Amino acid sequence: MNIPTHVGIIVDGNGRWATKRGKSRSEGHLAGSKNLDSLCQYIFDRGIKVLSLYVFSTENFKRSDEEVNYLMDLFVKKFKKDFKTFSKKGIKIVFSGRREPLRQEILDIIDDITLKTKDNQNGILNFCLNYGSHAEIIDACKKIVIDSDNGKINVNKLDEDLFKKYLYNDLPNLDLLIRTGGELRLSNFMLWQAAYAEFYFTKTLFPDFNDKEFEIALEAYNKRDRRFGGINYEKKDN
Ligand code: IPE
Ligand code: IPE
Ligand code: MG
Repeated sequence: MNIPTHVGIIVDGNGRWATKRGKSRSEGHLAGSKNLDSLCQYIFDRGIKVLSLYVFSTENFKRSDEEVNYLMDLFVKKFKKDFKTFSKKGIKIVFSGRREPLRQEILDIIDDITLKTKDNQNGILNFCLNYGSHAEIIDACKKIVIDSDNGKINVNKLDEDLFKKYLYNDLPNLDLLIRTGGELRLSNFMLWQAAYAEFYFTKTLFPDFNDKEFEIALEAYNKRDRRFGGINYEKKDN
């Protein structure tokens, strides 16, 4: 089986999962978080090197204070737990997103975990928190202008590889992008990195998206013919 290098997951459907069961949205997020614990381990054990998880968008701040605060508290606990689990396995943990208006407690944890896992070589777990692709591209442009003004880079030399280095993290492009919860949109996730990603949309709500569901996504990925604009002459049906 062909294993993708970089998998991204738009973790969606926690709220609907809870509503269907007569539970609060918070209970849905808790169930989603528990599911992530086991799923992430499975994904790395399966040989995927880079996993990006879209857990909170810049737009998610539009939600009620109660929901946002619950999620932030949940992230604090989750990041601490994941640090223990994944640093043991040699996985580097990184974060993508704007710092403002995240609270100091979260920023401290993010900085601490990033620093402590920075030399790990076995894989990368990328939490997209307060992440928006438009914000990421604008932030990259601002840094490029500053470096150009300071003479650090020559704008005439700007190409895709150099631009990528100005994104929140310099990661390989996405190979497989999964969205749970049934919506057929990107909701501002990795627009740059998804240029040639294979998309897999499933109606399964995130708390139910288990190892078996992930295997089905991998099987679907393996049936795709990735041409990157070229032509696979060996394939009869081209
Ligand atoms: C995804 O679940 C998690 C976050 C966006 C934080 P949702 O909270 O969007 O769940 P639905 O889409 O309302 O079911
Ligand atoms: C996308 O889900 C963001 C995350 C999963 C973190 P949303 O639930 O916020 O997306 P929309 O509002 O349905 O586009
Ligand atoms: Mg949603």
